[in-house]
Amino acid sequence: MPTTLIDNIGLLVTNDPSNGDGSSLGIVRDAAMVIEAERVAWVGRRAQAPEADSRVDLDRQTVVPGFVDSHSHLIFAADRAEEFVSRMAGTPYTAGGIAATLIATREASDETLRLNASRLIAEMALSGTTTVEIKSGYGLTTDDEARGLAIARSLTVESTFLGAHVVPIEYQGRRDEYVELVAGPMLDACATSARWIDVFCDRGAFDVDEAQVILQAGIARGLLPRLHAHQLERTGAVQLGVELGAASVDHCNHMNDADVDALAGSATVATVLPGADFSTRSAYADARRLLDAGVVVALATDCNPGSSYTTSMPFCIAVAVRDMHLTPAEALWSATAGGARALRRDDIGVLAVGKRADFAVIAAPSYVHLAYRPGVALVSATWRSAT
Ligand code: NIG
Ligand code: FE
Repeated sequence: MPTTLIDNIGLLVTNDPSNGDGSSLGIVRDAAMVIEAERVAWVGRRAQAPEADSRVDLDRQTVVPGFVDSHSHLIFAADRAEEFVSRMAGTPYTAGGIAATLIATREASDETLRLNASRLIAEMALSGTTTVEIKSGYGLTTDDEARGLAIARSLTVESTFLGAHVVPIEYQGRRDEYVELVAGPMLDACATSARWIDVFCDRGAFDVDEAQVILQAGIARGLLPRLHAHQLERTGAVQLGVELGAASVDHCNHMNDADVDALAGSATVATVLPGADFSTRSAYADARRLLDAGVVVALATDCNPGSSYTTSMPFCIAVAVRDMHLTPAEALWSATAGGARALRRDDIGVLAVGKRADFAVIAAPSYVHLAYRPGVALVSATWRSAT
């Protein structure tokens, strides 16, 4: 297999503590990396770099592992710009807006849905994202969820069945029947296209008992659980996630000490979504408290047309640093290795021998500039392995 030397890296973040400066970011200065068959074959100081078949000179730019966006809702049609305008004028965010996207999504062709999601993934790649998780959840009929998931699956291996996003209007007053549908025939139709199962367990969506029934049905079908927890209020979803061994509980805006302790003693990641807090003008999730308690924290965009219509992980890093009080190093780790943990992956989020050669090139002397220069398109190239 031909080898490529990625040379003249001013600062390389490996996320491999056994490499470089010994920090959790595993920083190597004056670095180089060799890629073979889309995997990292060598990484270290450029002075020691081996020969390779071809060479790319990065002119002292920074290299970081590709961003792992572990929470997005890309299967939808139309946007909700007017809802955003009215929210900025004081209307609070509720789960009710999902119904508007539901109508547009059901009416859209497969091709429209695929093109919209592909456009958003291309946008993500431009800002350094190399892995994205994609949820269904704007179809909410068996057929619409199944086609949404098939599209998601064609775009990423990290596809998530979210038939339990809200109870659709046609099931008003019959929510038990909808839960039975989601945990039964809809799950059956979707399970082969999904790796994960998720529930929006919150005010206006599903309660903890309903979430438990749905997640357990998914687990019985071989899906892995994750869930939307404590965005709008404290429901007990965090503890449910920990009890079920969820890979991640996401949002985490409302937390008490017991929630934090439960997470700290578990393998469940807390994924915070600064874009959602920003765009719903909500109090930011207390990621600082979670980190200080020893909880593994991931950062993701939550890209969706309602609460967070951003594809940019650098934006999320900047907000996490500015408003969630993460250090730039913590925010970068959470957006890369943290996202990999939230997806239970060890082949991404780290640049070490044998791992996927997924990385972003930052046109700056340090990754700190991702937060220090908010809103500036600093990602000059994104490398992503195809297999
Ligand atoms: O994660 N909270 C649930 N789902 C999305 C928002 C969906 C919408 O408003 O369309 C979220 O924020
Ligand atoms: Fe979400």
